[in-house]
Amino acid sequence: MRFPPRAGWLLPQHWGFLPHLKRSPLTTFDSVAVVGALRLQCRLQYDQRTRFWSEFLSNTGRPAHKWTHYFPAYERHLERFVNQPVTLLEIGCGRGGSLQLWKRCLGPFARIVGVDIDQRCSSFEESQIEVRIGDQSDPGFLASLVDEFAPLDVVIDDGSHVMSHICASFDALYPHTTGVYVVEDLHTAYWPEFGGSLGGHTFIERAKALIDELHADYTHGALAPTSFSQSTLSIHVYDSLIVFEKGRHVHKHAPIIGAEPADRRAAYRRAARRLITAFKP
Ligand SMILES: C[S@@+](CC[C@H](N)C(=O)[O-])C[C@H]1O[C@@H](n2cnc3c(N)ncnc32)[C@H](O)[C@@H]1O
Repeated sequence: MRFPPRAGWLLPQHWGFLPHLKRSPLTTFDSVAVVGALRLQCRLQYDQRTRFWSEFLSNTGRPAHKWTHYFPAYERHLERFVNQPVTLLEIGCGRGGSLQLWKRCLGPFARIVGVDIDQRCSSFEESQIEVRIGDQSDPGFLASLVDEFAPLDVVIDDGSHVMSHICASFDALYPHTTGVYVVEDLHTAYWPEFGGSLGGHTFIERAKALIDELHADYTHGALAPTSFSQSTLSIHVYDSLIVFEKGRHVHKHAPIIGAEPADRRAAYRRAARRLITAFKP
């Protein structure tokens, strides 16, 4: 239902889909209850679409620092973790506000782990929030995070934004991530002070190669399937933000389903057979 509802929805003749209203005349109580329920429903749907954005805008806790255009992506990729017993690990605590933001958005069962090189971030610990101090490019430190917190449902890399650091964290943590891996602020991939340059050894170039790797099954052996290709369902590239969605592939196949005239069905089947022979996993 759209929000706000069209005024027409408020007229009793549009409420016929409610069975008990068809049988009995509308009472004042009914009208108030139905209008209330409709408004609540609209409100809930409206809020759920902007949960992360609303929490960010109304933040009165520690300061959080995020680009506004990331929020639709957070809503899209993190909504399914709300009220679930998840572990979210964020590299880069800043001033502590984003850790509190994830805690408020994800609800009472979420375990939030903040990672930072700055010792002062230890003070951000509170109920549901733990902080570990170390360098996101240090394989030993990353292994200790895996030992202590894996499996990780969500990882958000908002740390140094240095290309080699992003890659080191990705190499160590991605295999132990089960849900979503987010890399923020990738405009730094074009900035030399972060190890960036157009077409250089950047995480953007790495992500381009990972798009090929995701399709390894279709490359006639040019690329061997990897743990990445077998555990990644999708790669979403936004302005300065890349989101990897993990999951298990089931049998890949493309059935034709539906009714159609026999001659067209035969033609489609011939074309489909050509496509399927081209796909030799
Ligand atoms: C952009 S701030 C994080 C902002 C925070 N996530 C927020 O949304 O409010 C980046 C943080 O990364 C930390 N950092 C920088 N280099 C790091 C490294 N090599 N390893 C871990 N953290 C690092 C900095 O100390 C800083 O707190």
